Formats: sequence, structure tokens, C-alpha cells
Amino acid sequence: SKNYHIAVLAGDGIGPEVMREAIKVMNAVGQKHDFTVTYEECFVGGAAIDHCGTPLPEETINACDKAQAILFGSVGGPKWDHLPHSQRPEAGALLPLRKRYGLFCNLRPARIFPGLNALSPLRADISAQGFDAMVVRELTGGIYFGTPKGREGEGDNERAFDTEVYTRAEIERIARVAFKVAMGRKKKVTSIDKSNVLASSVLWREVVMMVAEDFPEVTLEHLYIDNATMQLIKNPAQFDVVLCSNMFGDILSDECAMITGSMGLLASASLASGSFGLYEPAGGSAPDIAGQGIANPIAQILSMALMLRHSFGEIEAAEDVEKAVARALKDQIVTADLARAMPDAHIVNTVQMGDAIVERLGD
Ligand code: NAD
Ligand code: IPM
Ligand code: MN
Repeated sequence: SKNYHIAVLAGDGIGPEVMREAIKVMNAVGQKHDFTVTYEECFVGGAAIDHCGTPLPEETINACDKAQAILFGSVGGPKWDHLPHSQRPEAGALLPLRKRYGLFCNLRPARIFPGLNALSPLRADISAQGFDAMVVRELTGGIYFGTPKGREGEGDNERAFDTEVYTRAEIERIARVAFKVAMGRKKKVTSIDKSNVLASSVLWREVVMMVAEDFPEVTLEHLYIDNATMQLIKNPAQFDVVLCSNMFGDILSDECAMITGSMGLLASASLASGSFGLYEPAGGSAPDIAGQGIANPIAQILSMALMLRHSFGEIEAAEDVEKAVARALKDQIVTADLARAMPDAHIVNTVQMGDAIVERLGD
């Protein structure tokens, strides 16, 4: 049988709690589909600062270099927020990993599970229209990485600055991904920008329009970011592929997650051009619920499924996991973050949710 090798970077807060469940489901689905996944567990983020004195130790980088994919939990938390920016878990570990492997493309598939629009906090007549979007977020450019970036001066003149910068090539390659993805879906791309104010957005829109010419079957729409945040709540069903810069995609994907019911549902794949990828929930370390064993493991489990699909080509196994998740929810098995929406639901903890998904594999 086939074997795949990955690096597992659980990180901080709820990271290790939800990672355990993703590994459990991965092993179970591998058995059903005749493959094994070996993995090396490494410190990253705050956990790495505590154990090794740095958020991205060399051993961790080496393990990632040797792996076919990285399964990532989440990093950061109040304990490390006082550190200088570049030594913190987020800017010191996660962003450098994305940059190191050229993971310019972040896919965040957000959908209201069929029949589960009650999970959405939106009014029933709106959520019943459905929501099935793919956020395609540029991940290695924009204001996250642009230079100059920094802080200088003193007193009232002290200043801090970031630079939103995009090259034509960076916009073109993420736009091509968005249109290709749209071709396999409902053939609509909504490109998000702020071209009424930002020069980088003017170029963004220009390049996206140029790429669109190669995909005549795809309908292209442009929305300003402020309007987009509103349209998502007013009529989420209008969206298919949502093409965003790094920062706008970060913001809109949290909104998309909540439209489906919880931050704990949104998975993501961070990809380059080959099969290597880093798979991470869109949400963070959730310090407010960490350590209680109640976090929703679904985003981590679905991120693992994205790894099966994109890095290993194990499409059937990925679908098996996705279906098992949908079935568990349909059977009204939910973690506390979703309980609000389902008054008659069985509220379970993180481990029980993982078990419920394993039990429903291959049904
Ligand atoms: P967050 O996503 O951690 O939490 C926001 C809210 O969503 C909280 O109420 C949390 O309880 C809830 N939530 C998130 N995931 C959940 C899950 N799986 N199950 C149930 N509820 C869940 O965002 P934050 O509080 O702004 O950030 C906390 C820390 O995480 C910060 O240090 C931030 O930088 C970091 N962060 C890391 C990543 C990452 O590593 N990929 C992503 C986002 C934020
Ligand atoms: C995300 C996170 C990260 C981001 C942070 C933790 C650097 O919010 O993956 O959405 O902003 O990209
Ligand atoms: Mn985010």
C-alpha cells in the first residue's frame, strides 16, 4: 500500500487538541482506502518559543523540507503577544513558512452544509438560499510582506508603516488559479479590491480583467471590499469564487466561516505550483476556549482532507472525510460553538466529535 510522509505542526492553544482528532481521522480513512501516512511532530509558534527559544526552530524547518505536506494547527496567544513582532508565533513562524515554500495560493472553501442552514447565524430566509464559496486568497504578497515595513522615530513623531505592494506577475498567477477553480464550479469570479482608493487595487483589477479574457465562460464581477462585506451577509448565495488580496482574503474568510456557522468549520489549503502544501484551519488558537477540550475539530479535519486531495491525489478518501463530517452534523452532533443553532443537538466535546466522524467514514 502507498505511504505518504508529512510534518505535523500542532502549535498553540486549541491546535494540539484539534490536531489529535485530525490524525485520528487520517489514520482511519487511510486504513479504509489502503494508504498510510507517517508523520514527524514538530514544535512551532509559542510552543517552540517555550521549548526551543525560537518560533520556527531549525529541526522544524528540516522536517518540513523532507515532508510531502505540512499539517498545521494554529499559532499565537496572549502569552507571546509582548514579544517583538518578528519573534512572535505569527510573524516569526507561520508567515516565514508560507514564504519559504512559495505558498502564494490559499484556498478556503466555505459552504453551508446541505440542510444545515440552521447553523448559520443569518436569518433563515437568507441562509436557506445556500452558500458555497471558495475564497482564493493571495498569500505571499500584499501588505503582509511589502517593504518598507517598520517603525522609526521618537515621541510624537514616532511612526510605523506597512506597504501594500503587488506586482503584475503576483496578481496574474493568483487570478489564474481563481478562474481555473471557477471553471470546475459555478463559473463565477468575484474579485475584491479597493480600486477607488488604492493604486495596488487599480493594478489588481486591470490584471484580473486581462486574465478573464482567457476564460470567456467565466462571469467576472468586481466588488469593493466594503461592499463585499455587506453583500456576503445580505445575499451570500450570489458568490462562487471570491478572489482576494492577502489582507482582504484574511478578513473576508472569517466572515465566510461565520456565515457557515462557526470559525471552527473553515479549512484551508496553502499551495504553491506543485503538490506540496500547508494545510491549516482558517481560525486561530482560540485562547478563550483552549485547554477545555471543547474546540470544534472540523476545520482541522477538513484541512487534513484538503491535504489528501491536493498533495496526495487521494480524492475518494478526501470525499469520504467530507461526507462523514456532513453526516455527523446532520445527525445533530455538534460542538459547543454550534450548539446555539441546534437546540435539540447532542453537544459533544472535541474527542467525541472526532469519534463521530470516524464512525461515519465509508458509510
Ligand atoms: P481565533 O480564530 O483564534 O478565535 C476567534 C473566535 O473563534 C474565538 O471566540 C474562538 O473561540 C472561536 N474559534 C476559533 N476556532 C474555533 C474552533 N475550532 N472551535 C470553536 N471555536 C473556535 O482568533 P483570535 O482570537 O483573534 O486569535 C487568537 C490567536 O490565534 C492570535 O494569537 C492570532 O494571531 C492567532 N491566529 C492564528 C492563526 C493560525 O495559526 N493559522 C489564524 C488566526 C489567528
Ligand atoms: C489566517 C491568520 C494569519 C493570517 C495570521 C495568524 C498571521 O489570521 O491564516 O487567517 O493573517 O494570514
Ligand atoms: Mn485570519
